[in-house]
Order: sequence, then structure tokens, then C-alpha cells
Amino acid sequence: MTPPASVPVLSAEGLSVSFDGRTALSNVSLELPRGRIVSIIGPSGCGKTTLLRCFNRMNELVEGAHTAGAVRFEGFDLYAAHVDPVEVRRQIGMVFQQPTPFPKSVFDNVAFGPRASGFKGDLHALVEEVLSSAGLWPEVAAELDAPALALSAGQQQRLCIARTLAVKPSVLLMDEPTSALDPTATARIEALVHSLKGTYTVVIATHDLQQAARLSDLTAFLDGGDLVEYGPTETLFTNPRDPRTESYLTGRAR
Ligand SMILES: Nc1ncnc2c1ncn2[C@@H]1O[C@H](COP(=O)(O)OP(=O)(O)O)[C@@H](O)[C@H]1O
Ligand SMILES: [Mg+2]
Repeated sequence: MTPPASVPVLSAEGLSVSFDGRTALSNVSLELPRGRIVSIIGPSGCGKTTLLRCFNRMNELVEGAHTAGAVRFEGFDLYAAHVDPVEVRRQIGMVFQQPTPFPKSVFDNVAFGPRASGFKGDLHALVEEVLSSAGLWPEVAAELDAPALALSAGQQQRLCIARTLAVKPSVLLMDEPTSALDPTATARIEALVHSLKGTYTVVIATHDLQQAARLSDLTAFLDGGDLVEYGPTETLFTNPRDPRTESYLTGRAR
């Protein structure tokens, strides 16, 4: 059953995270609407990665991490005792700054998740479908058995996106997914992210303000662990409400 569109896919309510007693996120509340692209911007160390990692329960893997407040996924408490974090990470996939293909073939990278979750359908068809969605199929169709690590960095990142899509997530978290890539590879990833809009909810942490402006419907600006401002991307960039947002945007533009 698909929940009503009015229920945000993900929401944080009074979310705070500390590492060894040092605050990394402070009382953050925001809602992520279904099918939209949301950027998280802010200076290095402001808490972008930490916020993304709250959305798929990865911070709990860090010793000394403490999370308070609530995260809801489809309206349900993501941190409730009965929720399986592995299932959470299937439904809320993550792509990292450095492409992280497994040392396996292109095919086996994409097939990894479906195989692990006991997929019974046509695996070949699924691999083709998600490689096509990731804009990589024409480049790898004849080389599915080639090692993934032989691909270029940009291709590896698109492969990692395909691998994430293969388990049919509803949300894709992307942590600075293009900062290790050249401009051409970056443009291809941006086109790919744009094509995912509507089908997936995408949350993309980026220090590239132009990228946030180009790609996202909504932008959140974090500073020192505080959510300073969150709203439509165009408004935030052209008419920020908070002086800290304005100063960050203009400081970075100089
Ligand atoms: N695993 C960790 N252990 C200790 N401190 C951490 C850890 N991860 C992040 N932090 C701290 O939390 C704050 C926010 O970091 P992070 O979320 O990585 O920021 P950003 O992604 O915006 O650069 C920083 O002060 C950082 O040093
Ligand atoms: Mg980060």
C-alpha cells in the first residue's frame, strides 16, 4: 500500500547527534517530500554526512555516537526496536563520495543486492534495467563480465548508483557523489540524478552550490550542526531569510 502523498517520505524531529559528547547536529527538524530532490549544503564539518547517516541508521555503527530525537520513514519511527537496520538500508540506499564498487564483475556488482535478498525473477533483465536507469548500459552491455574496478571513476559511480537501485529503494542518499569526479563525469551524474526525480526521493549532500541550485527542488543549509534554513531552492538562493545563509552564499560566490 502506498502511503498518501501528504506523508513525507522521511522526516527528522528534534534530531540531535553527538560523537563522544561533542555535538554534530543540534535539534534538526525537516520533512522530505516524496519524489523530490533535496540538497544539503553547508561548510565542511557542518553535519551534512551526519544527517544523511541518520536517515539510514549508519551513525549507530559509530562507537561514541549518540542520537536523540526522531526520524520517521513513511510516518513510522525508523529507530523503533522492531525495525531491522539492514532492511532500512535497502529501502534507503546510500552512495558515497568515493565510488565503492566491489572487486567483482560489473554484473555481479549490480546483482549483489538482489541475490542477497533472494530475488527470484529475471536477474539479467533487472541488471539491464537498473544499468539503463543509471545511464551506464550502453557503455557496459558488452562487458558485463569485466571487473568493475577497470571502469573509469565516473562509470564506477554510476555503477554504484545502479547497484543501489537494484534493490528497489524509495530513497537515495548521496554524500558528495561528484566531488571525486571530473566535470564531464559530474555532468553525467547530475543528469542521472535529474532523471531519477519523481521515481525516487533523492537527498544529496554537496559543497557545490551550483550543483545544489541546478539539481534540487529544496535546499537545507546547515551550519555548525544547526539547520539554519530549509525551503525551495530558488528562494533560498535568491532571497535567503537568514543572514547566516546569505553570508555563506555570498562568501562562497566571491
Ligand atoms: N565518526 C565520527 N567520530 C567523531 N566525530 C565525528 C564523526 N563523524 C563526524 N564527526 C564530527 O561531526 C561533525 C559533523 O561532521 P560531518 O557530518 O562529517 O560534516 P560534513 O559532512 O558537513 O563535512 C564534525 O565536527 C565532525 O568532526
Ligand atoms: Mg561530509
